[in-house]
Amino acid sequence: MAKITFITIENEEITVEGDSGNVMELAVANNVAGIDGDCGGVCSCATCHVHVDPAHVAKTGEASEIEQDMLELDDNANEYSRLCCQIQVSEQLDGVILRVAGDE
Ligand code: FES
Repeated sequence: MAKITFITIENEEITVEGDSGNVMELAVANNVAGIDGDCGGVCSCATCHVHVDPAHVAKTGEASEIEQDMLELDDNANEYSRLCCQIQVSEQLDGVILRVAGDE
């Protein structure tokens, strides 16, 4: 079981728990504002874009090459960007903080 905290664009903090699937699915199931998951998790929409808290990057690991290509199209991307459909929920994620990137 992993506890994952999302911080929305409006600075609302939502902590959810999960033990399977990917982080986007968990966010959508818990109505986290700003995470839409339009493509269903196949890394082709970027509506699940989050910025990993810099202190927690080791928990999520780095973006894959396909993910980075997708993120390059998003003006809001930075070195902490991940598409959260590409992050599997596991114990390793416990305590992670993810900021919804949104489209500013
Ligand atoms: S849900 Fe579409 S890229 Fe993650």
